[in-house]
Amino acid sequence: MNVTEALKQRKSVRAFLNKAVEKNKINAILEAASHAPSGVNTQPWQVAVVTGVKKKTLQEQIETTFRSGDKGKADYPYYPEKWIEPYKSRRKACGLQLYSALGITREDKQRQLDQWAANYRAFDAPVMLLFFMESAMQTGSFMDYGMFLQSVMLSAVEQGLASCPLASLSHYPHIIKAALDYPDDSLLVCGMALGYEDKEAIVNSYRTPRLEVSTFTRYFMD
Ligand SMILES: Cc1cc2nc3c(=O)[nH]c(=O)nc-3n(C[C@H](O)[C@H](O)[C@H](O)COP(=O)(O)O)c2cc1C
Repeated sequence: MNVTEALKQRKSVRAFLNKAVEKNKINAILEAASHAPSGVNTQPWQVAVVTGVKKKTLQEQIETTFRSGDKGKADYPYYPEKWIEPYKSRRKACGLQLYSALGITREDKQRQLDQWAANYRAFDAPVMLLFFMESAMQTGSFMDYGMFLQSVMLSAVEQGLASCPLASLSHYPHIIKAALDYPDDSLLVCGMALGYEDKEAIVNSYRTPRLEVSTFTRYFMD
């Protein structure tokens, strides 16, 4: 598999087979991703791999909190407070694609809520990854982290695995840090679901569109 193939094959998967992921595969993915670049080689990533009983207990705690109406508070704002165009429309289209694949209507608030709650179980993937960094680090480290996260996802593709990055999991940093014994002042960047794709699941049946290169690129070439 070459890089372009891995880039194009990767997609966000939201239903997984009930099949454990081998620890050596998880290690191979993290080892490969550790070759990602970072400013002055800071390598700010700290990863928690959560499976089995620990995952079950943690996700139950988060989902119960979410269902109680507590929306949580992330360590940093991932999205803008006020959405502007064209991002507002892209965000809407993204949600619509998901809900229409699942046949969830605008009115069906209960199914929308249940589908959102599945985020907090990492879509029942066997592996939940949680990504931390020290809060003393700056905005540049988020850039480094993005490269690391994409490297994890591409390497997962090479290992025959699928993933979904999860900003949603970062809404409950206090629960997650307490459960996994990370310091209060660490920064929870995001989570990720990892496992074998359920290729029969309708939720995995669509692909999100991309803009043409010419729409986001200006060439200043002689
Ligand atoms: C940092 C990050 C956080 C994300 N968080 C979530 C999430 O919480 N829940 C979810 O269902 N998808 C999440 N996504 C997936 C995006 O919706 C998805 O990447 C986008 O729609 C493009 O689709 P694709 O990944 O299939 O190419 C996240 C993506 C990124 C990069």
